[in-house]
Order: sequence, then structure tokens, then C-alpha cells
Amino acid sequence: MCGIVGYVGNKDAYPILVKGLYRMEYRGYDSAGVALVHSDKVEVYKCQGRVKDLETFCEGKDISGNCGIAHTRWATHGEPSNQNAHPHFSSDRKIALIHNGIIENHLVLRDALIKQGYEFTSDTDSEVLIHLIEDINKNENVDLPEAVRLALSQVQGTYAIIVVSIDDPHTLITARKGSPVIIGFGKDEYYVASDGSALVEYTKKVVYLNDEEIAVLTPGNDLTVKTVKNKRVSHYIQQIQISLDQLEKGGYEHFMLKEIYEQPRSIADSMRGRLNVKKDVVSLGGIVEYEDRLLSARRIIIVACGTSYHAGLVGEHLFEDLIRIPVEVEYASEFRYRNPIIYEDDVVIAISQSGETADTLAAIELAKKKGATVLGICNVVGSSIARATDAGSYTHAGPEIGVASTKAFTAQVTVLALMALCLANRKGKIPQKRYKKLVEELESIPSKVETILKDNESIKQIANYMKDFSNALYLGRNYNYPVALEGALKLKEISYIHAEGYPAAEMKHGPIALIDEDMPVVVIATNKGSYEKVVSNIQEVKARKGKIISIVSEGDVDVKKLSDYVIEIPETEEMYVPILASVPLQLLAYHVAVMCGRDVDRPRNLAKSVTVE
Ligand code: G6P
Repeated sequence: MCGIVGYVGNKDAYPILVKGLYRMEYRGYDSAGVALVHSDKVEVYKCQGRVKDLETFCEGKDISGNCGIAHTRWATHGEPSNQNAHPHFSSDRKIALIHNGIIENHLVLRDALIKQGYEFTSDTDSEVLIHLIEDINKNENVDLPEAVRLALSQVQGTYAIIVVSIDDPHTLITARKGSPVIIGFGKDEYYVASDGSALVEYTKKVVYLNDEEIAVLTPGNDLTVKTVKNKRVSHYIQQIQISLDQLEKGGYEHFMLKEIYEQPRSIADSMRGRLNVKKDVVSLGGIVEYEDRLLSARRIIIVACGTSYHAGLVGEHLFEDLIRIPVEVEYASEFRYRNPIIYEDDVVIAISQSGETADTLAAIELAKKKGATVLGICNVVGSSIARATDAGSYTHAGPEIGVASTKAFTAQVTVLALMALCLANRKGKIPQKRYKKLVEELESIPSKVETILKDNESIKQIANYMKDFSNALYLGRNYNYPVALEGALKLKEISYIHAEGYPAAEMKHGPIALIDEDMPVVVIATNKGSYEKVVSNIQEVKARKGKIISIVSEGDVDVKKLSDYVIEIPETEEMYVPILASVPLQLLAYHVAVMCGRDVDRPRNLAKSVTVE
């Protein structure tokens, strides 16, 4: 949460900073601000609202300067307001700071600083950092980078910060712990951002800062990096793998819609080089060395949050079906705090689109401490989770910008399916004929998604029906239960209609009490697995006047007869249904949200990259 960006060089900083904020607005969008180093002072402009509000606020003001920092906020401490927006100033207004993360011991530090006479102008935890840095800078007679280092050695929590000062007007100081910082290298210039999307327009040469590292960036000077413990470290420059057109809407009204439509390609990209149907080979380069480890695992534990957790639930079915190793799937936030039993011969798989989710990172650290092997399935190359795990496989879905995850989910399930197939074959327990069929079917999934996308107009009509209700129930069994959870999550997060996903058979243990003519029930009722049982569940809903919207396999007869609205998806193997069935549910949620007038790409209170607990 929160996006930070900085620039120092010979170009005008303001346009670069604002564009960077737009690119990272998905990380938080309740207030925004910029600090520009002018010749005689540091100027801060900030306000509650979106980046466009900041731009309006800055109209007519002095936005000159070749050095500056900017921030887009997702409030943790202190409500969204002008005062709580970043950057924060030192008391003498000579130094300004932006922060992404949470300073856990801010109250203690704040009290101590107040006792020393510092006045706080915001309710944020971040403001303690600037006063602490200022205090050390003045009273311990050290330069600013050293003051930043000493200040950071006193704080508990997470941070990605950038600091500018009028006393050193061509320098950015940046540091990270738990929240990402990427440094971009131009000609006589440096860029800093939370995410490569803010840099890629200017440079592809980057360095990913590690936790507890502080970098001093002065054009003309080499990058210098020290740890908080005062050890010099060196970094090698990497190439960022994002292209600019991946960051544009490309003619679509929203990023979410673009990303839904990208799925035939993103699923194919997730399989590229890993699935060779002619040779019946499934292989994931990133985990080749860990295949034996996985196959001899006592358990596989999948940890993730949000949509990635739902992908993990599909993974549980895939692994247990195909490789017969027990799998547990846990919310990373629960796992990290519940003193879980982790054996050294467990393999933990962390799934994360952003690769930055704080709870998932903490779960990984815990698993590592207990000696388990930890693998990652991430979308963002070079992200913290990708680097914290022993090995892993990228999903290659391309940048996902809409806050509601779509193509990342289908790519995650695709990678999990590839993993399960590859391990099943290696274990030698799957009949070759069956393996071959599953491999061939997986390859056909992108074109089947393409077929589903052609149904957009009829899904829009169903959305028109659903938009007027305040509740919805999503039901599915086995492989389709995670799809029900994911469908409900999509609807609630972008349309703000309350929706619950439930295992269809559990409905009679509670949710059935909610069913009347005002309760649309979305049922994933494809023809494999527990089809007849789901038909019975639908009958139970009908008997109570509930309205049925069903997702069925093409050619279905029984469920169609019982449904008020039907969405057909192409025939496939049961284990791939989650990929296909999630697509119409994404479109359904999208259209409902648009019809309800919601801000689809930036739903209220949410952020895409949750770098705080
Ligand atoms: C946030 C996002 C969700 C995402 C979840 C986990 O809540 O809004 O879309 O599923 O974080 O994120 P991750 O990047 O770890 O997959």
C-alpha cells in the first residue's frame, strides 16, 4: 500500500513524479503529495484525493526542480486528509520524507520526540521518522544519510522511504524494510519507485534494494548502499521486464476489462516453454531441482491472501488428486500468528500476484525459520516474495493493474496445474493415457477462454438483472467451491454488493435461511464431479423462490431447465473448470460494478499491493 516515487537528474522532476504516481495509484489512492527541491527551499504540495486532485492543486504553483519525491497514500494511521498526506516536513522544513509501511513503535518515539519539543502536524506513524531523522541530524552532528541510518536502527516495523533535503539538493536517500524499493539508472539521473511500472518509461536498468538497506543517490556519483547495521553492500544492475503498452488501457474502458480480455494470452504465456504437447512434456524450469523435494514432502502447505488464496484452494485439489500428497491451504495472515506445526520435510508454496503482500512474506519467513522448503508462485519478477523463496515459478501474466485480480488468478491456477501434472508424471503414478489427455486439454484452455469472452453481451444482461440486489450467494462444490469464493469476492470488492461463496452442500446449514425472491444464487454447475448433487442444491433454492444464475457445461439440459439465467462454458476436464468458470464471473462482477457506477479499477478502501499487516 502507498506508492513512493523519486527523481533526481537534469530533467523536470514534477512530470516524472506525477506520471509515476498515476502508474502506482493502484497501491493506494486516498491522498497524494509531492516535494520539489527548489533553489532556496523544499516545497511540498499535498492534498486528500486522487493524483488528479493533486495535479489540480498544483496548477499555477511553482513546480520547477530537478529533484523531488511523491507519494500516493492508502491510510493506515490517520484518516485520509490534507495533513495526513505525505510528504512530511522536518520542523525547519529543510527535509521532506515519504513513507510506505508501518512504524510499529511510533507511539513511543512520538512521545519522546514531543518531550524534546517536536510538534506533530499529522496523525500518521510516518511523521515520527522525519522528526527522528531531523533530531539525529542536528544533535548527533552526523550527515543526513547517517542520520537516516541511525533513525532506522531505532524503528520497528516496515518502511520504504525517500528523503530529500535543501542542504543536499541533488541527492535522494532511500531505504527499505518489508516494502519494496526499486532504483532506476538513467544518464546522470536516478529514479526510485515502489514498482517498476513507474520507471520503465525512462529506464530498464534497475537495482532492487534488499531489506534494511539504505541507498544514497547523487547523479554523477556511483550508487552507494549500506545496511542499517552500517555494512557496505554492492548490487548488480538488472533489466526490468515490463513494456509500456502493458501499462496502458489499450482502448478498454478499464484496466480490469483489459485484463479479463488478456486471459487467453496470459494463460498461454504462463504455459509457454513449460508445456510441450507434441512431446508430452510438462516442466517448470524454476522448480526442476525441487521436484524430488516436493514428491517426498510430508505435506504441502499453500499460503496466500485474497484471490491468490482461492487459487491455492484449487491447487489443493490439483495436488491431492494428481500426486496424492496432503495439502493444507492457509490464509498467510492466520498462518503467521497461530504457531503452526511446520516440519522440515514440509514444502510451503507461497502464492502472490504482487510478490509484496506483507502477511505472505511473514509466513514465508516463519516457514524458513522452521526449516521447511519454500517455493513461490509470483507474478511480479524480482518482487520481495520471489526473492525470499528458495525457488519458484513466475506466472508471466504481465502487469495486473486493476485492483480486483483477474488474469493473475487464472495464471496462478495454470501454473499450479502445470506443477501438479509435471510432478504426477515424474512420480509415475498417473496412467500415460490420462496424463496425455490432461496435457492436451490444458493447451486448449486459452482458446476456450476466448470462446467464453464472446459471451460478454449476454453476461451484461445478467449483470443488469443482478445490479439491483443487495446480496448474492455463490455456490460450488469440489473444484468449483474456490470458484464460488472467487466469484463472490469479485462482486463484493468492486460493486460493494454483499456476496458470499459457499460449498453448495453447506447451504442447508445456514445460508438457506437467507433465500427468498430477493436472493440471486450463482451456481457453478458444470457436468463433472458432483453434478447431480448440485442439481439437488439448485432444487432447494428454487423451492424457496431463489433466483438461479448458473454456469453450466455446453449442452447442459437439467440445470438449464431450473435456471433463470444461464452461462455456458466449453467442455473441459473437471480440474480446469476453475480457469474457465472464473472468467464469466469476472465479467459479471465487472458489468454489475460499472452499472452501479463504481470506480472499477480503484474500489473504495482497497489497494492492490498490501504491504502492511
Ligand atoms: C489485495 C488485492 C487482491 C489480492 C490480495 C493478495 O487484497 O486487492 O486482489 O488478491 O491483495 O495479493 P497478492 O499480490 O499477494 O496476490
